[in-house]
Amino acid sequence: MASRQSSVSSKSSSEGSEIAPAKGKLGVMIPGMGAVATTFVAGVEAVRKGLAQPIGSLTQMGTIRLGKRTDARSPQIKDFVPLTKLNDLVFTGWDIFEDDMYSAASKAGVLEQELLSKVKPFLKSVKPMKAVFDHEYIRNIDGPNKKKGKSKMDLAEQVREDIRSFRKSSKADRLIMVWCASTEAFLKPNDIHGSIEKFEKALTKSDPKIAPSMIYAYAALKEGVPFANGAPNLTVDIPAMLELSREMEAPICGKDYKTGQTLMKTILAPGFKARLLGMSGWFSTNILGNRDGEVLDDPASFKTKEESKLSVLEYILQPELYPELYGNICHKVKINYYPPRGDNKEGWDNIDIFGWLGYPMQIKVDFLCRDSILAAPIVLDLVLLLDLAQRTSSLKGLGIQEWLSFYFKSPMTVPGLYPEHDLFIQLMKLKNTLRHLKGEDLITHLGLEYYD
Ligand SMILES: NC(=O)c1ccc[n+]([C@@H]2O[C@H](COP(=O)([O-])OP(=O)(O)OC[C@H]3O[C@@H](n4cnc5c(N)ncnc54)[C@H](O)[C@@H]3O)[C@@H](O)[C@H]2O)c1
Repeated sequence: MASRQSSVSSKSSSEGSEIAPAKGKLGVMIPGMGAVATTFVAGVEAVRKGLAQPIGSLTQMGTIRLGKRTDARSPQIKDFVPLTKLNDLVFTGWDIFEDDMYSAASKAGVLEQELLSKVKPFLKSVKPMKAVFDHEYIRNIDGPNKKKGKSKMDLAEQVREDIRSFRKSSKADRLIMVWCASTEAFLKPNDIHGSIEKFEKALTKSDPKIAPSMIYAYAALKEGVPFANGAPNLTVDIPAMLELSREMEAPICGKDYKTGQTLMKTILAPGFKARLLGMSGWFSTNILGNRDGEVLDDPASFKTKEESKLSVLEYILQPELYPELYGNICHKVKINYYPPRGDNKEGWDNIDIFGWLGYPMQIKVDFLCRDSILAAPIVLDLVLLLDLAQRTSSLKGLGIQEWLSFYFKSPMTVPGLYPEHDLFIQLMKLKNTLRHLKGEDLITHLGLEYYD
């Protein structure tokens, strides 16, 4: 009986989608060759050489259950949908510093020299192209490797030329752009972001409300290249980019990789809510000493990050539905730049909760995490899944790929739709999307049929 099945067929699900095969090479173009980007690229090469495991990557290690629990069908995700093989990835990037990926990785200090030395020739071959940079948007750092242009439109043309040259020189069949550059200063959506036409006019006039990340994204989408935004900047989260993404059938997703403290928040908060435990406050503070921390030491960049980190709890706990439990939460987030720790961040959380009859309790979390180690597998998965989206008939023209929310602190959605922040709902959405694409039944966990 269909209504008593824990896996549900829908018409479109049973038909599946057309997915083009992952033929040839996939070129990965990365604005920002810092800690995250180099940990990702060095890691891919280390895995290719059999030196390490791609731990944390759903596309490399994850499985997906199909059909009933008694069917015993749980293939690996990479065998279930056609993903590009790691051996077919080629890389390039842009940065304001001239360091190749080996020097940049050495300076970032995330990976040990012993591992880096084994992938040195490969990392040395990835050299940064000249960046589009505006000191107004990133105030705490500056470097020599920058493009010069008559206007922001001219800079966008130069990035488009970089994309075309890389497509040729790398012989890549398909390309993806993934933002791993520093967090830009806070920017509110403005009228000039409202349509492609307005945005292009503003580019020609070098409007100050166009950030460098938007110039890269515009260039990518114009070239038909999907764009993932790993930082909390607005970037592709504006109507003009959504319009362009749909028009060019170049998918987009963002914002801000979900690692560290926010990952913990979206793991813990759904649990408290599931048990209807109330919450009066959540205080989060961090120390980190990498370049990301240095950039976030500027209040304008921190404001962008803060907005991204703060929104999570409200969406998960839904205070409008549970005013007695979550209607009055004091939520604070602090980031302290503390150089001695480098990339090894320490995040403390103090959570004030209350239970039966309102009796208060406290939970303390001390997460000694490694930011870029948590971020690198996210970058890999996004690259492979965004490429899958572009090869899939039912996804490529949608614009925002909300099914990739799993990877982001501030998942993008179409205007008017609230984002899903609960990590477990996000994972279910991602896996059900893959099942849907392949014409498999969706999994609801109803399970009554086992007792018929
Ligand atoms: N590490 C994490 O866990 C994590 C999580 C979520 C988001 N992020 C975001 O990812 C981004 C990268 O983090 P990271 O730790 O690698 O930082 P990083 O400072 O090590 O690297 C960023 C690099 O971007 C370069 N850059 C700045 N502006 C640029 C521009 N306009 N064009 C090209 N390059 C530019 C910088 O020179 C730097 O090398 C940051 O925005 C960060 O907030 C990181």
